[in-house]
Amino acid sequence: SWTAGAFIDESVARIRAQVGDEAAVICGLSGGVDSSVAATLVHRAVGDRLTCIFVDNGLLRKGEREGVERTFRKHMGIRLVVVDAADRFLDALEGVEDPEQKRKAIGGVFIDVFNQTAIDEGTGATFLVQGTLYPDVIESVSAGGPSVTIKTHHNVGGLPDDMPFDLVEPLRELFKDEVRQVGRELGLPEEFIGRHPFPGPGLGIRVLGEVHRERLDTLREADAIYLEEIREAGLYDEIWQAFAVLLPVRSVGVMGDARTYDHVVALRAVTSRDGMTADWYPMPHEVLSRISTRIINEVDGVNRVAYDISSKPPATIEWE
Ligand code: XMP
Repeated sequence: SWTAGAFIDESVARIRAQVGDEAAVICGLSGGVDSSVAATLVHRAVGDRLTCIFVDNGLLRKGEREGVERTFRKHMGIRLVVVDAADRFLDALEGVEDPEQKRKAIGGVFIDVFNQTAIDEGTGATFLVQGTLYPDVIESVSAGGPSVTIKTHHNVGGLPDDMPFDLVEPLRELFKDEVRQVGRELGLPEEFIGRHPFPGPGLGIRVLGEVHRERLDTLREADAIYLEEIREAGLYDEIWQAFAVLLPVRSVGVMGDARTYDHVVALRAVTSRDGMTADWYPMPHEVLSRISTRIINEVDGVNRVAYDISSKPPATIEWE
């Protein structure tokens, strides 16, 4: 039967055979479990021939970048380059409202920034690590076939022609729970292993409609409170994914004796094994109540909080 230890040995041998004794390798870290585990596996196979690149796209959650820097530089001793490219992403998103157009814009800038960084850093890399999982492969086949594309996940489906790398995809046969076991076995910190999945386009597809810096800041604050309270209540590990969404409407409220006309935040929490189907999570009322009170009191410009009670299908996990 499958064990993480045996998988690691096999995978390290396979990566060495693919990459050889000389070639340099790069990996885009997203801050998520998949790319982190993939990078750590490859690091074990090729050591300092691996360079990781973390692109700060301005669409990250609160504290994300610092967490990645801490984990990879300090704990894991992996060579890490952090690029601050928020302005470029936000420029590319200007005037873009459609979810697929947003993914395209974000994916396009990401490739440019990533390639340029690989060159600027003089890595000479010919291989690129990707944290593609089995469900990604399946979902992109079933949903992205000739008939209909539900969402394009830009981390699946090979590489655009302008990325001059061979792919190393050590997790292609694994489910998320297996990836987590491998990560544990590799010594990644537990707080990293247990993290909820986070989409590549980040808060860019959670600020519904056009993305602005100010809206991102609002969402980032609300999302941080939401996750903090879920952790505090001891519920984080029961949930597959929990996040806040900023709706593109305003609603009327009352504060003291004044009328407000402000933002609405929707909270989403689902359980799932692989993200392909999902059930909405029955969040305890007292936890919802605390979260709602805190978000409305602490986040400027938000006067209403709603809880999403849709499962997948027919809804999807993300709103866009
Ligand atoms: P949906 O919303 O399709 O999401 O039910 C299923 C899983 O995929 C994640 N997701 C993405 N991940 N790029 C990514 O890297 C994307 O464009 C993207 N869209 C959705 C989502 O967070 C969930 O875990």
